[in-house]
Amino acid sequence: MKVAVYPGSFDPITFGHLDVVSRAAAMFDRVILGVLVNPHKSSPASSLQDRVTVIREALDETCPHDLRGRIEVETFDGLTVDFCRKRDATFIVRGLRAISDFESELQMAHTNRKLAPEVDTVFFMTALEHSYLSSSLVKEIAAFGGDVRQMVPEAVARRLSTDGRGL
Ligand code: PNS
Repeated sequence: MKVAVYPGSFDPITFGHLDVVSRAAAMFDRVILGVLVNPHKSSPASSLQDRVTVIREALDETCPHDLRGRIEVETFDGLTVDFCRKRDATFIVRGLRAISDFESELQMAHTNRKLAPEVDTVFFMTALEHSYLSSSLVKEIAAFGGDVRQMVPEAVARRLSTDGRGL
């Protein structure tokens, strides 16, 4: 059985992330979307548990039924490779939006491979129509009352509009 972990902050999840996780679910038997706090990013807009709730709703809303059944959502802390080992995952999934993502993603992929040679990173090119999206821009637009419904699923947009600062 091929198991992959798709790690990230998902603060909040966007159509870009949802596209990547659906395509990964078509390729692997199970995909575990692992949500964590990235200490390199400014203070998160929502708690990990809120993010998990909204991600599950977003997947129910957008993901085809056969693929949805292969995706699980969990939180974790510590190293991504340790989480992979705990879940018997031998792949890490990441999305690449543009060449600007490449340098840091390449560094992470090589570092993770050094730490866990049995875990390989697989990159999906983010769909062209979502390649401009970023969670931080979505939060900024929502904070100023802008319309983010082309960028995030209804479950996310609803929460952002009731509280522009978070989910
Ligand atoms: O969505 P993000 O914030 O860009 O995801 C970054 C993430 C979660 C992939 C990265 O920060 C990560 O893997 N963090 C866990 C700690 C870890 O394993 N660090 C070593 C990475 S080489």
